[in-house]
Amino acid sequence: MPTETISLDNGALLTIRDAQVQDAVALLRYLDTIGGETDFLTFGAYEFSHSLEEEEAYIQECLHTDNKLLILGLINDEIVGVLHFTGEAKRRMRHSGEFGVSVPKAHWGLGIGSHLIRTMIEWAKAGEVIRKINLRVRSDNVRAIRLYEKFGFTREGEISREFLIDGIFYSNIFMGMPID
Ligand SMILES: CC(C)(COP(=O)(O)OP(=O)(O)OC[C@H]1O[C@@H](n2cnc3c(N)ncnc32)[C@H](O)[C@@H]1OP(=O)(O)O)[C@@H](O)C(=O)NCCC(=O)NCCS
Repeated sequence: MPTETISLDNGALLTIRDAQVQDAVALLRYLDTIGGETDFLTFGAYEFSHSLEEEEAYIQECLHTDNKLLILGLINDEIVGVLHFTGEAKRRMRHSGEFGVSVPKAHWGLGIGSHLIRTMIEWAKAGEVIRKINLRVRSDNVRAIRLYEKFGFTREGEISREFLIDGIFYSNIFMGMPID
């Protein structure tokens, strides 16, 4: 994926590019922190379980697999957003996959999440492999749902009790968008 630099409304320059193996340490540090900032992700602080070697291998895999994507948003070389898309492995299903996106709280509302999603959709359309993008979002994550709807994702179903946090169950909504 070509590197892109975008000027945000607040004047900051956002770079979006593929994660490289050299980003593994910063990426793991980012994931440790972001997990503690929100209950909307599937993991909490310091709960993301990849070792450095596993993270490096995952980055390599994303760089060399036509239905996987791992992109970073950076401002002044600091990671301010991450999006990963994982296509299925089996031949009959490798045209579809699920993505996840996160932006640190301090950078919410600047358009970073939108730029990461737009980039993924452009990548999917250009690659001609991906024909369906799926996602799961906690049913009370209004902000994220609105973001996905803005790009044309629609609700396809709901699964109950996917999250259990402090004794409370939360449902996940399945959303999807065809790529034609
Ligand atoms: C969801 C998330 C990625 C959005 O990132 P972001 O960079 O803040 O997103 P943007 O600035 O591009 O805003 C995207 C849209 O969110 C919606 N939005 C923004 N602020 C909102 C608010 N206070 N209430 C409701 N919707 C809001 C708007 O639709 C906005 O688009 P618009 O500005 O064009 O109208 C970010 O909030 C995040 O990381 N949250 C925690 C992790 C998470 O929930 N990840 C998704 C798991 S499925």
